Amino acid sequence: MDHRQRSPGLSASAFAVAIAGVTAAFFLSPPADTALAQMSKNGPALITEQNETSIPEGFREWVFLGAPLTPNGLNGGEAGFPEFHHVYVEPGAYAHYKETGDFPEGTTIVKELVLLKEGDYEDGSRDEASGRGYFAKSFAGIDMMVKDSERFADTNGWGFFNFGHHAPPYAEVAAAAPNDTCASCHTANATHDMVFTTFYPILEKP
Ligand code: HEC
Repeated sequence: MDHRQRSPGLSASAFAVAIAGVTAAFFLSPPADTALAQMSKNGPALITEQNETSIPEGFREWVFLGAPLTPNGLNGGEAGFPEFHHVYVEPGAYAHYKETGDFPEGTTIVKELVLLKEGDYEDGSRDEASGRGYFAKSFAGIDMMVKDSERFADTNGWGFFNFGHHAPPYAEVAAAAPNDTCASCHTANATHDMVFTTFYPILEKP
């Protein structure tokens, strides 16, 4: 049996329901009903005891924060994070942020990489009816961060997960990345609690 599918807090049938629709199973700690409720598509990501998680279902219907763009054409052909980054936060966390200016525990932010349509020019831009620019073509990867100050104390309070920088299907499960891989850069450069809030007008404080 896959170690991820052990779930002492749930009956077999409840567990079957818990994993329906998601390929990865979670190590759910009791109370089971709370854990199941959290797995609704608008809830934060759940983290296993092994610090693994899956991409929350329905994240593309969450609150859209913005779409920073670092095209290959402007980065010597090899952008670290190629093309558009579509960034979403789960609605409960957004509501809390709007109210308080802080990200609550459990805040889950998904960033999806989106490749560009073929360029007409050397910088990768192309002409379209609206003008010369960059236009989205297809999905190409998922990075995710989840706030849990205690569990992820070593990476400044957030867990960082990479589900692959390639076209879907994405990895079903990802383990929290070590500090050097992701968190250190966010720690050094992000503007508010590990998040680059300055790139998202919707997160700007009044
Ligand atoms: C070299 C610095 C650097 C590293 C390393 C890095 N990031 Fe980021 N990350 C950024 C910047 C800058 C942004 C915002 C602008 C953008 O996306 O282009 C960002 C944005 C994000 C966002 C959207 C929320 C936000 O803060 O804007 C997520 C989620 C994210 N990164 C996850 C990851 C994960 C997971 C890894 C490791 C696999 C990682 N990052 C590694 C610099 C970095």
